[in-house]
Amino acid sequence: MKSHTQIEDLLELKRRKNAVILAHYYQDSDIQDIADFIGDSLDLARAAKSTNADRILFCGVHFMAEGAKILNPSRQVLIPDLKAGCSLSDGCPPDKFAAFKKQFDNPFVISYINCSAEIKALSDVICTSTNAEKILSRAPKDRPIIFAPDKNLGGYLKKKTGRDMSLWNGSCMVHETFSRRKIIDLKTEYPDAELIAHPECVEELLKHAEFIGSTSALLKHVISSPVKKFIVATEAGILHQMQKQAPTKILIPAPPEASCACNECPYMKLNTLDKMYAALDTEKPELFMNEDLRLRALKPLELMLEWSN
Ligand code: 13P
Ligand code: SF4
Repeated sequence: MKSHTQIEDLLELKRRKNAVILAHYYQDSDIQDIADFIGDSLDLARAAKSTNADRILFCGVHFMAEGAKILNPSRQVLIPDLKAGCSLSDGCPPDKFAAFKKQFDNPFVISYINCSAEIKALSDVICTSTNAEKILSRAPKDRPIIFAPDKNLGGYLKKKTGRDMSLWNGSCMVHETFSRRKIIDLKTEYPDAELIAHPECVEELLKHAEFIGSTSALLKHVISSPVKKFIVATEAGILHQMQKQAPTKILIPAPPEASCACNECPYMKLNTLDKMYAALDTEKPELFMNEDLRLRALKPLELMLEWSN
């Protein structure tokens, strides 16, 4: 827990630097509590695009900060820890993905936003878990569709929409960790609890979920549903916001198979208030991007924003 003075110092530095703090729902609660804007991947991309601040301190992971730079290149984009990566993004190297793409005749590539700028540049359109169905509904019917890099979200979309897609074999190390066995036990113990899950979870778990949605959809559902108790199968950081916005609800974090804190994203959790202060103070680490790559990655991102309006 940080002292009041440390938080005041950070906020004062932020004001002096004319910076905005954007934070994903999976950040530690102390970061969520001081952020100017908290959201899911889609909300954060929109917030990054529209900010007038001189610099963006992006408290999330690397691909999100890259997205901010792609959409708003005249702002300085700072990230508290450059090592904050993502297993989905890391599991889809551009050379291998380009070779995979070559196996198809004129494919239409939909990439989940959890990928590098290089993968975005190889894509026709980007989606997030919030707008994935909407984006897929606009995809041409006469071209083979490739969906990358999350096979779980891709599989969920295939089942839900009936559209055929070839899936890149990637997954999120956090959302794959939940124990179906322990969750079934929890549902027996709490028969009045609803299982809600992020579509990055594996199909065997999604089969048991009463509600499936993106981070922000899960949050909205907890707030608006008449149900009182929820087993939450996504990264544990969201529970802070759920509890804050729906204080009377009982939230049970879905347990991982092993006895570990694997329901917390180790990359998201690299960011700390101290690293945020240092990043603003030194203006490092800063995210830079080659302009040619930025322009190629911008096209599918802008199409996503247009199609999700
Ligand atoms: P959303 O914020 O779009 O739900 O994505 C979840 C996630 O895994 C971000 O890394
Ligand atoms: Fe990537 Fe999963 Fe962490 Fe999200 S939770 S940043 S998808 S590893």
